[in-house]
Amino acid sequence: MGCFPHKHLIDLGEYSADDIMTVLATAQKFKQVNERRIKKVPTLKGFTVVNMFNEPSTRTRSSFEIAEKRLSADALNFGGSSTSTVKGESLADTVRTLCAYKIDLIVVRDAHAGVPYKVAEASGVPVIDAGDGKHQHPTQALLDLYTIWQHKVLAEGVPFEKLHVGIVGDIGHSRVCGSLIPGLKTMGCEVTVVGPPTLMPARPDVLGADHVAYDLDSVLPQLDVVYMLRIQRERLEGAPFPSLREYSLLYGLTRERDALMKPDALVCHPGPINRGVELDSFMADHPARSVVLDQVYAGVLVRMAALYLLLGGQDGFDA
Ligand code: CP
Repeated sequence: MGCFPHKHLIDLGEYSADDIMTVLATAQKFKQVNERRIKKVPTLKGFTVVNMFNEPSTRTRSSFEIAEKRLSADALNFGGSSTSTVKGESLADTVRTLCAYKIDLIVVRDAHAGVPYKVAEASGVPVIDAGDGKHQHPTQALLDLYTIWQHKVLAEGVPFEKLHVGIVGDIGHSRVCGSLIPGLKTMGCEVTVVGPPTLMPARPDVLGADHVAYDLDSVLPQLDVVYMLRIQRERLEGAPFPSLREYSLLYGLTRERDALMKPDALVCHPGPINRGVELDSFMADHPARSVVLDQVYAGVLVRMAALYLLLGGQDGFDA
């Protein structure tokens, strides 16, 4: 048992394999809490967490709120167009105002990359990045790693080091990639990014993946996990592909492509899904392959773990 060696969760690249395993093992302990009839522990009673969401969210926001409630923390839900930022207040002044209430941790989502660092600087309290622009989404990557750990490492006995994960789609706009690639590489996985050249960054090698591919069908048979990214219509500039139909024909995971996959390959997606674009309903709801709702559930578990560890919990939480 020991103290967790990080104050913030902003850049998953700063977390070692031991740190990631501490989060996953702590999430596993909280799974026991979530499977009881009364899904609540007094662990964070007396702590106040601010959820500052300046951009839309369903999964991340709701799972943080549920995680905080199940840990008995007090939560202040804040952000967006209802705050005094629309009257010209700076981010730093807003954060300093909230800190005057003696809050203990801030969860922040923002459309602009780097905002969690500014919040950390202005607040002095632990900060969890809940997705910032095209930069990172570390709790998403941790819940993905937890899901892969459950299904592949624990259930099938395949270690992370023997897994080949393909991340498919809008690589260039993806904050999920910004956290998931370093997380997978830290755990020893082989990683291939796949997508049209127009949705790749100018220098895909800087992402840290082992391989860059442009043809999904030639890569699919090698993959143990097929991680489909959302086409981010709100971040697309210009016309990176002629039509969604053409994108889906080349890069969508469809019933036809099922036959190209390993029999035990998993299908992941961070949500929200554009059905009929990245995934057809056959694959999105595939009872053996799709772990999309397991990822959603894991979101509560890893967010409970992150809140607990960053607020001073020991790595040996006893459920
Ligand atoms: N995966 C994810 O971040 O979803 P939300 O935007 O709904 O939070």
